[in-house]
Amino acid sequence: MTLKDQVAVVTGGGTGIGAATALALAEAGAQVAVGGRRLEPLEAVAARCSGPGTIRPHRLDVADRDSVETFFSWVERELGPVAILVNAAGVNVARRTMRELDPADWDRLLQINATGAYNCMHRVLPGMRAAGRGTIVNISSVAGKRAGPLGGVAYNASKFAMTALGLSVAAEEAQSGIRVTNIYPGEVDTPILRQRPQPVSEEHRRRILQPEDVAAAVMLAVTLPPRAHVAELVIKPTTQVYV
Ligand SMILES: NC(=O)c1ccc[n+]([C@@H]2O[C@H](COP(=O)([O-])OP(=O)(O)OC[C@H]3O[C@@H](n4cnc5c(N)ncnc54)[C@H](OP(=O)(O)O)[C@@H]3O)[C@@H](O)[C@H]2O)c1
Repeated sequence: MTLKDQVAVVTGGGTGIGAATALALAEAGAQVAVGGRRLEPLEAVAARCSGPGTIRPHRLDVADRDSVETFFSWVERELGPVAILVNAAGVNVARRTMRELDPADWDRLLQINATGAYNCMHRVLPGMRAAGRGTIVNISSVAGKRAGPLGGVAYNASKFAMTALGLSVAAEEAQSGIRVTNIYPGEVDTPILRQRPQPVSEEHRRRILQPEDVAAAVMLAVTLPPRAHVAELVIKPTTQVYV
């Protein structure tokens, strides 16, 4: 139980990578709070938890600062100060080329994927500074390192922003005991693939990463001793080309 009694927050924790990460954190003994806009998937993940840690669900919209404040105040009241934050909340849109993208979707993707991560980091950092330790993991994307056509214009831009946010704060906080890890997954078999312009075949889904593969990368970053900082980690399906 390497994370016994540590308080962890996973945004987007009701499905996909966030859900797998919440379950892995609880399996390592953490007291986990999962947040997302829909309560039902959060409750379903909490029900799948078999300990030794716990998973507690609560509504959260990372793009709404009042919601972020309400969520983290609840976490601190119910569980205590946050030691681990995993920013896994994220969205994409089917019409994602520059030609097709609705400007409102540009705003929405930036607000959730980039500003949402900023909002949550901004909320937890003072407590982590006071404690002299803490680990923040940003689930960026290979789209946050290489702006190819797969992710689309707004998603790529939002993930580049998330990447820069993580690297900037990691550098600023290097002496304060706080680690910020950016993880860049390639294709993962999760519900976000439903937003793809072309349907993803079952055969393709079987070839790509599973959410628990990315959760294993998160666990590496959060369970290493405080002296060791995984600054960046690219994890992709063996069959996906990344150059
Ligand atoms: N799957 C991939 O191929 C892949 C590759 C690289 C990176 N990623 C990134 O991995 C992260 C997790 O995505 P996933 O693949 O696991 O897909 P997913 O299952 O769709 O997970 C995204 C989660 O984010 C939550 N969310 C969306 N908007 C939110 C908001 N405003 N506030 C709070 N929660 C919000 C969703 O729940 P609600 O809708 O209930 O809010 C959902 O649970 C995302 O940032 C994604 O960009 C995914």
